[in-house]
Amino acid sequence: MKVSSFSTMIILVTISFIFFIPPIQCARPNPDSDLVQQICQKSPNYSLCLITLRSDVNSNANLDSNINPHKSNEDVSTFAHKILEVVAAKAPLILRQLQNSDAQTDHTQLKSCLDSCITSYTKISNELMPQALEFVDKGDLNSAKENANITGNLAEACEKDCSGTTSATISPIGDGNQYVQDMCAIIVSMITNFPQSNQQTLA
Ligand SMILES: *[C@@H]1O[C@H](CO)[C@@H](O)[C@H](O)[C@H]1NC(C)=O
Ligand SMILES: *[C@@H]1O[C@H](CO)[C@@H](O)[C@H](O)[C@H]1NC(C)=O
Repeated sequence: MKVSSFSTMIILVTISFIFFIPPIQCARPNPDSDLVQQICQKSPNYSLCLITLRSDVNSNANLDSNINPHKSNEDVSTFAHKILEVVAAKAPLILRQLQNSDAQTDHTQLKSCLDSCITSYTKISNELMPQALEFVDKGDLNSAKENANITGNLAEACEKDCSGTTSATISPIGDGNQYVQDMCAIIVSMITNFPQSNQQTLA
């Protein structure tokens, strides 16, 4: 009797693990995933969008959890912040690369386009990205979008000006510049397509 009630208990415990634990886990869908899917499907670069928003680069570091303490990291504001931080970190590296290329070339036409890219990336690194991050923190997503748009346009101009200045098949400005354009386009589309989420953030 003792043995059999012990086995019964084991069986019951096992059954409860099989039947109850997984449903508990399944009953908590990631509230994040739907919005991420929607945002990325409407963005001009689905895979880059998904990779960036699903990455954990910011979960431990500078991501302001004080944007909205009542909401966990699942709104447009937080996503915009995440992408902006990546661009903000990337811009000074691109700037340094441009300065190196500039120092290494005597090609007049290339030098002049690099100089204008250096001016653009100085502005992106020192003004546009830090400011955009502040705008997001203040809940002013439209101004952040404006800065992302300007940044994307500057990067695009840089691409256009420099391509074709040399016969080299490799872009003299590197692919970081294209990355910045793609990331900025995602931010602009995100804030344009999900303005209602801005209101939630402001509330
Ligand atoms: C981005 O900037 C361009 C050029 O300044 C402007 O024509 C366009 O309307 C802007 N787009 C958005 C979504 O703000
Ligand atoms: C998405 O972005 C990546 C990184 O900049 C780029 O390599 C890729 O070509 C882009 N894809 C599209 C469809 O624009």
